[in-house]
Amino acid sequence: MGDLFQADPDRFDRFSLEACGMLLDYSKNRISDETSDLLMALARASDVEGWRDRLFSGEHVNNTEGRPALHMALRAKEGDVYTVQGKNVVPAVLDVRKRMGDFVSAVRDGTRTGATGERITDVVNIGIGGSDLGAHMAARALAPYNNGPVRTHFISDIDGWKLKRVLGGLSWESTLFVVSSKTFTTRETLLNAQCARTWLERESENKETWAHHSAATTANPARAVSFGIPTDSIFEFWDWVGGRYSIWSAVGLPVALAVGMDRFEEFLAGGRDMDVHFQTAPMEENMPVILALLGIWYANFFGAESHAVIPYDDRLSRLPDHLRQMDMESNGKGVDRDGKPIDYATAPVMWGGTGINSQHSFFQKFHQGGGVVPMDFFVIAEAGDRECGHHDAQLASFLAQSRAFMQGNAVDKKHLAPYELVFGNNPSNTLVMARLDARTLGSLIALYEHKIFVQATVWKINPFDQWGVELGKKLAQGLELELKKPGGGNGYDSSTLGLIGYLRKFRQTDTS
Ligand code: F6P
Repeated sequence: MGDLFQADPDRFDRFSLEACGMLLDYSKNRISDETSDLLMALARASDVEGWRDRLFSGEHVNNTEGRPALHMALRAKEGDVYTVQGKNVVPAVLDVRKRMGDFVSAVRDGTRTGATGERITDVVNIGIGGSDLGAHMAARALAPYNNGPVRTHFISDIDGWKLKRVLGGLSWESTLFVVSSKTFTTRETLLNAQCARTWLERESENKETWAHHSAATTANPARAVSFGIPTDSIFEFWDWVGGRYSIWSAVGLPVALAVGMDRFEEFLAGGRDMDVHFQTAPMEENMPVILALLGIWYANFFGAESHAVIPYDDRLSRLPDHLRQMDMESNGKGVDRDGKPIDYATAPVMWGGTGINSQHSFFQKFHQGGGVVPMDFFVIAEAGDRECGHHDAQLASFLAQSRAFMQGNAVDKKHLAPYELVFGNNPSNTLVMARLDARTLGSLIALYEHKIFVQATVWKINPFDQWGVELGKKLAQGLELELKKPGGGNGYDSSTLGLIGYLRKFRQTDTS
């Protein structure tokens, strides 16, 4: 890459573009004009444009579950049309959005209180996967806009210690639980919700309080009702929304409660901006298409097994978690759309952490440890905080790393000991957001959603199902019963049995 930059002083201009309040610099990739043309030809041969139109038109692109994937409808504005089984779903989306807005305003202005009339100051989201990660990420990213009355907390794991730690800092009178689950059958979420309910009823010494202190976001309202949540606090979404694509739905309720409905709507508008860009920009200037093809370039032509996402801003510290689920649960597949096994790589392992912390832990491996690990850097042009000169130091660190990964220090080779040599040639993309506001955040998340879709199209896979996670869920049901039994355990391998035996010894002394 160092040579490519030397040969072409305009490389940045040719391999960068702006859209939706973001600049994408993809000049630090192992590509020439020819590579770029060939990758675009691959996209065309894979009918990316045709599949994009099928996605937006509500075709059953999720073929194994026989339904469309229309998360874009959740960020629609009045007048847009998204059709499911011949019916425009936008009015229903706007209806839930309106109810959500009313609820958010009432909580924030103190007219919707807890059972004793106290204002709600703490919202605890109970959900997992797509019912946690997106909202958690956005609440963190937009935290500087949270100058209202509501603090957010997120419970996902089944981990009694975590639940106790969160509840221990709260008073029941001012706490609202949002139980977020598309299916409302997820074991982890229901166990945590039941535990929260027990805590609330115990603290308030009243069985009626749960109804005042709970809300739900779900595609299965009947089950939320049977869990004691009142219908006017249930916010619905639909089976044509995948869990990991549901942040745009009522699943965003905790975010809206924290930063206000207007800001949440800006987030939706940013997602919609990216939909328009994806649908209308020519392929060569289309951000999701470019990012997708670069990912394919490394995964399938260089054997890259992982892809790092590195935000240079603490507000985006939860972004890698959200992108990881979106990417790997969508594209970590081994059969094509027709169910035939595939013999090429799909989703690389996506992972990451904030930039400065990463520099001081695992960047060493990328600088000198070999292998190709493509990276996406995220940088905010406007300072989040101006007090101590952090922003310039942060930007300088990013610029230094991105250059070092590209260039290395091989030009100074003669003066360096072998252990000092950094060879560079590590590819990276950089996304610079003018500022980290709700609208740009929305565009960023939608960018990755569409990137994932383009990759799935080229890989000929269905990115909207996740059958692989079912096996573990089923096994856990049987194994939980097994743990409770005093002995025995048939049909399991010796490792599983050995572990059960060992764990059982401690269960007997567990008095909690
Ligand atoms: O186990 C995977 C998964 O189905 C995710 O796809 C989903 O986001 C998560 O579980 C939570 O599911 P639910 O929202 O139905 O509780």
